[in-house]
Amino acid sequence: MFETQALSGSKPEQYRALEEQARALLYGERDRIANAANLSALVYHALPELNWVGFYFWDGAELVVGPFQGRPACVRIALGKGVCGTAAKERRSIRVDDVDAFAGHIACDSASRSELVVPLFDGERLIGVFDVDSPRPERFDDDDQRGLESLAAVFLESLQEETV
Ligand code: SME
Repeated sequence: MFETQALSGSKPEQYRALEEQARALLYGERDRIANAANLSALVYHALPELNWVGFYFWDGAELVVGPFQGRPACVRIALGKGVCGTAAKERRSIRVDDVDAFAGHIACDSASRSELVVPLFDGERLIGVFDVDSPRPERFDDDDQRGLESLAAVFLESLQEETV
């Protein structure tokens, strides 16, 4: 059984510890559904003040919801739409301190007040996005962005692993 460890220390230290846990959790498995599901569950339970953590995957035409933790979400998001579609189109993380102030924000859970979306690329190829929502405005700062980008990188690396 995978035991989650309580996080302590500074925020960067907590993210480093979480990254180690994520590596251990995904080690030896390449299946993207399995790894997205487990990473969503790990992050959702490890970090405070989150109401949605999950993945949207690019199906060649749109982003389609993948494994997540939280309330049921909208299924399809076009490139360039919402925070997720904008992060995928612009190929950069997008941090929204106040979702009401982001033109085009797509409200899935009305409790969401702030959001961070990290796009997932394999080289030039769009894989999808990793999306984290909070019920608190300005929940995510630079440390959170760096930490969640590192966790997204652990997920992307896990898809490349050849060995078990
Ligand atoms: N708010 C996102 C939609 C996905 S949900 O937050 C799960 C967006 O604007 O793209």
